[in-house]
Amino acid sequence: MSTELEPFSFAKRIPTTPSIGSTTVTKPDHIHLSFGFAAPHLFPIELLSYAAAEAVTQQGRKALQYSGAPGPGKVLAWIQNRSKLNDIHVDTDQILVTYGSTQGIDLTTRILVEPGDHVWVEAPSFFSALQAFRVAEATITSFPIDENGVRVDLIEEALIDARSNGKRIPKFLYTMPTYHNPGGVTLSIPRRKQLVRLAREYNFFILEDDAYSELNFSGKRYPSLYSLFPERVIYLNTFSKIIAPGLRLGWLIADKSILTKARLLNLGGSIGVFTQEIVAKLLDEFPFQPHIESLIAHYRRQSDVMADAIRTDFGDHVTFHQPEGGFYIWLRFQDHVNTTEFLQDAADRGVSFVDGRSFYVNAEAEGHSYLRLCFSYVSEDQIVRGVQKLADAYFAYLSKTMSST
Ligand SMILES: Cc1ncc(COP(=O)(O)O)c(C=O)c1O
Repeated sequence: MSTELEPFSFAKRIPTTPSIGSTTVTKPDHIHLSFGFAAPHLFPIELLSYAAAEAVTQQGRKALQYSGAPGPGKVLAWIQNRSKLNDIHVDTDQILVTYGSTQGIDLTTRILVEPGDHVWVEAPSFFSALQAFRVAEATITSFPIDENGVRVDLIEEALIDARSNGKRIPKFLYTMPTYHNPGGVTLSIPRRKQLVRLAREYNFFILEDDAYSELNFSGKRYPSLYSLFPERVIYLNTFSKIIAPGLRLGWLIADKSILTKARLLNLGGSIGVFTQEIVAKLLDEFPFQPHIESLIAHYRRQSDVMADAIRTDFGDHVTFHQPEGGFYIWLRFQDHVNTTEFLQDAADRGVSFVDGRSFYVNAEAEGHSYLRLCFSYVSEDQIVRGVQKLADAYFAYLSKTMSST
């Protein structure tokens, strides 16, 4: 006998929409300029398969135990050592291995935010981070970016206004200072110093998402925000962009007081211990610096190819900042253009992108005249053909909107 179940009241905090606004795949030969994925042909497949076999056979049953064998300790030591390049000098007990840096965003939010607390972000910002802040029922305020990263002067104005008018100071500011997703821009050194001065003066945390700083096309290095103010910066990084995202391994570096709280929230114990065994074995054998250099050379070339294709196909219809690193080019159209309106036509022509509004707090009202392209996942030939198809969709949209006005 089948009885009708009554509707169930699920937790209100579950988002009603997915975090990303790109279209789904519509054709087998679809060109994915939407995917912020690493280049699969650069995954160190052979070494990983050797490392996985070694982790099982050499470490045997210990590697598969809750706490793993030597792997987790070796990974921590590697992170500790590599972080020195970013001027980060910490004990290993200030490093927490996470299920990707996205888990670091989630953990930080759960540690710091009560419903109604304020979180400040950049406009645009990383959509999964925005989703984490919405789920935590934070009040989110955004500040625009320009060629030199987030407008710290506007953040300062807002803090002065908050202090003098009894408004709330944010619990934290979430920022991607180096090779921003989606903006492609980098926070200048003077703005970095100004931002940490504000965090000190107004007593808020900075959540520094540093997923792309290894992918540095120009050779120039920027001081991490963490290195400027370790007491109030929580630093996130990941193996996703430098080895492979499917490993789901990232890390969080912070003051010990934060780490203690993060460990209490980490209910399942250490993250990915077996994966850490594999990564430890890989890092033992891996010529890491040549690997990074080949990633950089590849992504730099891809970025140049995409920038040239955009200039050829869009001319003065768009402006963009040519990135110094990372995965993305962020296109700005004239204000009247709504990129969501040619998302589907572009998909029908075989190319995907992410429309600008997906990166904004108020997606209904902001970001319409922008879109994000990712040059990391596709081939050079696909970049050229994909940008051409995108331009076809845009110009078709433009002539339709012009003829209807
Ligand atoms: C800024 C930023 N942070 C975090 C992530 C996700 O990293 P992970 O795979 O380590 O969760 C991405 C991936 O696109 C990203 O762009």
